[in-house]
Amino acid sequence: MILIFATHNAHKVEELTQLLPYNINLYSLTDIECFKEIEETGSTLEENAKIKADFIRMKYGLDCFADDSGLEIEALDGAPGVYSARYAGSQKNNEDNIQKVWKELKGIKNPKACFRSVFHVHLGNREYQIQGRIEGTISFEKKGTNGFGYDPIFIPEGYQNTFAELGEEIKNKIGHRAKATLELIEILNYFAAT
Ligand code: IMP
Repeated sequence: MILIFATHNAHKVEELTQLLPYNINLYSLTDIECFKEIEETGSTLEENAKIKADFIRMKYGLDCFADDSGLEIEALDGAPGVYSARYAGSQKNNEDNIQKVWKELKGIKNPKACFRSVFHVHLGNREYQIQGRIEGTISFEKKGTNGFGYDPIFIPEGYQNTFAELGEEIKNKIGHRAKATLELIEILNYFAAT
């Protein structure tokens, strides 16, 4: 079965290819020669995932899915959320984003946060929306060198270290994208069996 992942991010495609059943041929936007940057104009992760998946479905008529992820901090009413990549501005700089989080959280002890990943899926004439989440707290010190984005300041529940210290192996077991991917696999298996 051919499935399009509506992303240009080769790292994400590689990560998912490792997790998906062998009979799923996963292609990125680059693989199908779609070089358009689909604009994320939604105001929620759910809307953005749907916008991207719907675009591919309408243009190519293929089975596909799209994702959108972000960090949601309880004391900031869910910010940066859908604006995680550009929280401190359109330069999309990780360091600037982290500095802004710390500034907004000044004086708050052990702020609770979660990472959430939403997948919007088109399979045949069916549509699904699924999510994975991981709870944790924000660290006021950057620790670790693995990963990207807010990984150096996110400590997942049940651990003493940040995602950037824990590394890919653990993140791929307990992380938000890994959990959403497991749900996707269940749906693909169900779809293949019906
Ligand atoms: P995307 O939708 O997966 O591209 O994620 C949007 C933004 O959310 C990223 O640019 C990061 O700032 C943040 N983010 C999402 N997932 C992660 C993660 O696993 N670690 C750290 N930051 C993340």
